[in-house]
Amino acid sequence: MDKAGLSAKTLKPGARTQGDIPQAVRDNPIDVPAKPESESKSLAFIGGVVGLVALALGLGAWFGSQTLQAPVTAERENNPTTLTPVAENSSNSASEDPSAENSTSNSESEDGLLGHFAYDEAPPEELKAIVYDGSIKLRTAAADAFLEMEEAARRENIILRPISGFRSVEDQDYLFFEIKEQRKQANQERAQVSAPPGYSEHHTGYAIDIGDGDVPATDVMESFEKTKAFKWLDANASSYSFELSFPKNNPQGVAYEPWHWRFVGDRHSLELFYKARNKQE
Ligand code: DAL
Ligand code: ZN
Repeated sequence: MDKAGLSAKTLKPGARTQGDIPQAVRDNPIDVPAKPESESKSLAFIGGVVGLVALALGLGAWFGSQTLQAPVTAERENNPTTLTPVAENSSNSASEDPSAENSTSNSESEDGLLGHFAYDEAPPEELKAIVYDGSIKLRTAAADAFLEMEEAARRENIILRPISGFRSVEDQDYLFFEIKEQRKQANQERAQVSAPPGYSEHHTGYAIDIGDGDVPATDVMESFEKTKAFKWLDANASSYSFELSFPKNNPQGVAYEPWHWRFVGDRHSLELFYKARNKQE
C-alpha cells in the first residue's frame, strides 16, 4: 500500500550503517591485550596510529551513513506525491485558472480532444440492461453494482433513476454536432457539456447519468446536487465503486456534472479511466 513505508522498513539503512560505527570503536579496547612495558611505547605509537585510523574510519562510516539515509528520507517524503495521480495535483492549478488548463492540456495531450479522452465502445455482449425495457445498458460489472446501489437507495426511499448509460459513437455524434448546431455553439463551448464522438465515458459502458425519480425537473441540471438522490450518492456511491467524473473545477475543464457517475470497481475500469487521465498530463 504505502511503498514509502515498505521501502523504509525493508532497507533500514540508518540502523545498519550507524550500527557499524560503534562496533569498530567498541572492538578496539576489548581487542588490545595488556603488554609488557618495553613494548608499551612502540605499541602506544602503533596504538595511536590504529586509533586514529579507526577514528577516521568511524567518522567516514558516520558520514557515509548520513549520505545513504538522505535518499531514503527523500523517497519517504516524495513517494506520496509520486503515488498521488498527477492529475490530482494539477487540479489545484487548474482550479485557479481553468482557461489556462484547457489551452495547455488540450493542445499537448496525446489522446485528448477538447478536454476529453478517447474511449473505445464497449462490446455489445458485455452490456447488461439496467431498466425493464432494455433501453439503458451498462457493462456487466457496472450494471450489477448500479442495481445493488439502486436497491440500497430504494430501501431509504431514494429513487435513483437511470437517464443514460452506454452510448455508441454514433449516439454521441448526434449529441455533439446536432445539438451544437441547434444551439449555435462553438466546439469549445459544446465540449464543456458534451464529449465529442469517440471521447465520451459513456462509450465505455461504465458511465451513467442518474436523476432523482422524485424530482425529474432536475435531470441533467446542476440543481440535481440539491436533491436527496445526489446527497445519498455523495455519501454512498463510493461503497458501490462509483465516483463523480466531473466534479467542480475538474482538471479537464468540463462543466460540473453532479449526475454523471462512473464505475471504477474493477481493474479494467480503473485502468481505463486513470490511464486515460495520466496520458493527458
Ligand atoms: N456529458 C459528458 C461530458 C459526455 O458527453 O460524455
Ligand atoms: Zn453523462
